Amino acid sequence: MSFSNIFLIVSVLVAVSYGKTVTVINKHSTALVITVDGVDYTVASKGLVALEQTDEWSGSITAVPLDAEILDGPKTKVEFSLNTLGDSYSISLVDGFNLPVKVVPNGSTNCRAPVCAANILALCPIANQVINSTGTVVACQNSPTLFSAVCPLAVVDETSIGVPSCTTATSYLVLFL
Ligand SMILES: *[C@@H]1O[C@H](CO)[C@@H](O)[C@H](O)[C@H]1NC(C)=O
Ligand SMILES: *[C@@H]1O[C@H](CO)[C@@H](O)[C@H](O)[C@H]1NC(C)=O
Repeated sequence: MSFSNIFLIVSVLVAVSYGKTVTVINKHSTALVITVDGVDYTVASKGLVALEQTDEWSGSITAVPLDAEILDGPKTKVEFSLNTLGDSYSISLVDGFNLPVKVVPNGSTNCRAPVCAANILALCPIANQVINSTGTVVACQNSPTLFSAVCPLAVVDETSIGVPSCTTATSYLVLFL
């Protein structure tokens, strides 16, 4: 085997073992502005954005419909804390809810896949609704009792516990529904 072949193989191994891909998929019916650590990605319905993160990445992901009138309202938040000893991730409704979401660890059989798919906008108490100028409920806030009842796998207040560490996932999918 030539030196250049060995070098190539080593390079490929390093590239494969470094970091993890977090793929954010728009399963929503309209285009979304997906925000990852403050950077916006406009993603068409059925589209995706694949982000290469380091093994030590900590960050958060939110989304809002591209045509939303209220861009700075409460949002469902997905939080990650990657670590070579084990990754933590959660769906947080601490700031409120605007879109259903699911997190799927890929390449693992024993890591949890938190989901919050309930139609919280339809269930939201009037006092906690965020309504746009045409009268549609676009977000729900300050409703931890409702949130934990319909999305028991989500973190709803500062005291609730996120999912335990995941050591076997090779990549993650985040699906906004
Ligand atoms: C209010 O929200 C609904 C649902 O997202 C949207 O279809 C409608 O266009 C919004 N209204 C305005 C004025 O943006
Ligand atoms: C899921 O993991 C497998 C095996 O590591 C990989 O081949 C595939 O590309 C991954 N899929 C996504 C969407 O990341």
